Amino acid sequence: MEKKSIKVSEQNNGKDVLLKVKDLKTHFFLPSGQIVKAVDGVTFSLEKGKVLGIIGESGSGKSVTSRSIMRIVEAPGKIINGEILFKGENLLTLPESEMAKIRGRRISLIFQDPTTSFNPYMTIGQQLIEAYRVHEKESENKIKEIIAQVFKLVGISDYEDIVKRYPCEFSAGFRQRIFIAMSMIFTPDLLIADEPTTSLGITIQAEIIEALNDVKERTGTSVIIITHDFGVVSQFSDDIFVMYAGRCVESSPKKELLLNPMHPYTIGLIRSVPLLEARKTKRLKSIPGFPPDMMNLPIGCAFSNRCEFAQDICFEKVPDLVEIRPNRKIACHYPQINYQTNQDTQI
Ligand SMILES: Nc1ncnc2c1ncn2[C@@H]1O[C@H](COP(=O)(O)OP(=O)(O)OP(=O)(O)O)[C@@H](O)[C@H]1O
Ligand SMILES: [Mg+2]
Repeated sequence: MEKKSIKVSEQNNGKDVLLKVKDLKTHFFLPSGQIVKAVDGVTFSLEKGKVLGIIGESGSGKSVTSRSIMRIVEAPGKIINGEILFKGENLLTLPESEMAKIRGRRISLIFQDPTTSFNPYMTIGQQLIEAYRVHEKESENKIKEIIAQVFKLVGISDYEDIVKRYPCEFSAGFRQRIFIAMSMIFTPDLLIADEPTTSLGITIQAEIIEALNDVKERTGTSVIIITHDFGVVSQFSDDIFVMYAGRCVESSPKKELLLNPMHPYTIGLIRSVPLLEARKTKRLKSIPGFPPDMMNLPIGCAFSNRCEFAQDICFEKVPDLVEIRPNRKIACHYPQINYQTNQDTQI
């Protein structure tokens, strides 16, 4: 039996908070002496049963954030500051042996590329049994029952044939669905899906999001979905957290963010999402310019050189993340509080 070391869930204004990340800093200390501040003061919380979407361009620190939560940041990366409170307990101060019991069991991580998530030399069934036995000794029959349940969760009922096969026998989308099933064998409290649809076509993407949604609805598992696609977060998230250059630039309940984005970067991201129909035929427009060089961040706001609203102060001082309304945080010297979109009907 697992030692019951988890404390009671943290209450936040009467809400049941599952995960609270406070001022997380994960930096990479390169052999050259340079420091990459991949995650630099990230704060957010996730309520039980809810979906948080983390969105940002490539290199903004999304994966490093998720790897930090799992405590699997690779060298020369190091978590140098912060707290990661999971059910009220700080994961960053747990001994590795306790963390190993949480990883894959209470918190599961789904990666971008379903090909690398599996061992190509073992059947799907063998891998599921092995994944289960890492944490618990159980008879093969009992595990088979659990396997049947998790396959049902992702909409696969004829699993008997699937478990006898090897990963390469399935399409990338189907493998991802199987991986989601595998991530659910212990009904974790938190599922982190790091760009789970990025390498897949648009129709398959929709199927994966639907599978994740079914899993969440049927089990009550909270989800963090990481993506650079606003279409994905807007379909599925309750709250959205926008990252840029290792920091949070805006966080908000989804609907408010889509109707009234305030950070110029968020506005740019939303503007770059065309109508659903058009997405099938047109390339997505991107925000002009490039994300900053993480080894050479500007002195002021990291977005200043791409921002159409930037004034002098934006090039001189990093804006603090400020709660300008309940549940709405923004880090900008000139937030566009009156900006309105009609994206609610578009995405
Ligand atoms: N092993 C590493 N060594 C040095 N720097 C790293 C390493 N891994 C990540 N970084 C730095 O951390 C930053 C954030 O990386 P991360 O993988 O979190 O980006 P991301 O937002 O997940 O991007 P993507 O959308 O492409 O997956 C990168 O810009 C990179 O400079
Ligand atoms: Mg990533």
